[in-house]
Amino acid sequence: MDHDAIILGGGAAGLFCAAVAGQRGRRVLVLEKADAVGKKILISGGGRCNFTNLGAAPENYLSANRHFAKSALARYTPRDFLDLVERHGIAWHEKTLGQLFCDGSAKQIVAMLLAECEAGGVDIRTGQEIVSVARVDAGFVVEANGETHRAAALVIATGGPSIPKMGASGFAYDLARQFGLKVVEPRPALVPLTLGGEDVLFRELSGVSAPVEATAGKAKFREAALLTHKGLSGPAILQASSYWRHGEVLRIDFLPDLPPDWLSERKAKTPQASMAQILREHLPERLAVTLAERLGLSGPLQGISERALVQAEERLRGWQFHPNGTEGFAKAEVTAGGISTAELSSQTMEAKKLPGLFAIGEAVDVTGWLGGYNFQWAWASGQACGEAL
Ligand code: FDA
Repeated sequence: MDHDAIILGGGAAGLFCAAVAGQRGRRVLVLEKADAVGKKILISGGGRCNFTNLGAAPENYLSANRHFAKSALARYTPRDFLDLVERHGIAWHEKTLGQLFCDGSAKQIVAMLLAECEAGGVDIRTGQEIVSVARVDAGFVVEANGETHRAAALVIATGGPSIPKMGASGFAYDLARQFGLKVVEPRPALVPLTLGGEDVLFRELSGVSAPVEATAGKAKFREAALLTHKGLSGPAILQASSYWRHGEVLRIDFLPDLPPDWLSERKAKTPQASMAQILREHLPERLAVTLAERLGLSGPLQGISERALVQAEERLRGWQFHPNGTEGFAKAEVTAGGISTAELSSQTMEAKKLPGLFAIGEAVDVTGWLGGYNFQWAWASGQACGEAL
């Protein structure tokens, strides 16, 4: 064997895992398809990398097995990663909701991972076209760029197919299936939703944003929503999109900060005001006008019955959108689904039926919310695996 472990994919999870295993004395080879490692890290967080979230907990992740991520997340916490960032002298700040970003650039995170790999003597090769991967008696054989590499362990860290123009693909799933591991159907997540039919009117409000509470299934997110020329985006919608399924309704509360019976109280206080006027006090002008029009309530509030006001408030607090789809993997920040957690040990990320084979990061059916949770999963699953190699 030339190496103890071959890691396929030099992204967040692969590099972190390689550094951990290398620093434990393992001989590690990383094979990366792109001409450089960590490309998604570089574009993340608007170039500043939202590298973790202080509140990261199992509840912030989607998976067919919601308990799977618990062990790895508990053993490698946001504070552990922050300590590493600080040891490398990288200045950081908390933007909002526990989201930590570099003050400078995401390049610092990639440089930190490379320095950690170097400290572990990791051999990193870019521009690698993996032609075949096979199981042999004592491990795995990988053919890439005309060379044959052998190792006792193989780690799948090639991520998911979101943003294919960066070279992302379903390679991890093909490999998993080759070795008989089940894959939970991958779907775009943290992705804008598209509107058609009756909702198409809202596309005319492209560029308008408002603080809302978006609900998909049982999940609720209170952040900004943005209307786009295709439909809905913004943090509240991206978060809800991970839980939304085709054919389902997405509900938006346009008045999340206002007390119940707000409309009736406004009628008592300002009977001459129109619906559009009072909505304008809390929502952007164009959105207020469109909502008032769609409610079909024109004229002063005093002319609107109490019953109609109650119904209007109900609609404004749970406006039903019927998205006709998502903007797909091309625009999805992550992929939900992936290599089934039922196939893996939650302690080590090793395949239960194939000792020596591991899968980490986004390739696995564990998907975080928006806000640094996905990187925290990459670090935590990479650590769990790196310690087991
Ligand atoms: P990742 O995609 O990082 O790495 C996989 C690697 O494998 C890549 O380098 C790829 O080139 C390589 N590869 C693929 N196929 C291969 C093959 N056949 N052979 C060899 N190598 C192959 N998350 C977060 O927590 N905070 C944030 O701020 C952001 N921001 C963000 C912005 C944008 C625009 C996107 C698209 C995504 C984010 N994310 C994020 C999500 C985050 O980037 C993602 O969850 C992690 O990068 C996943 O880490 P992995 O290492 O699993 O995959």
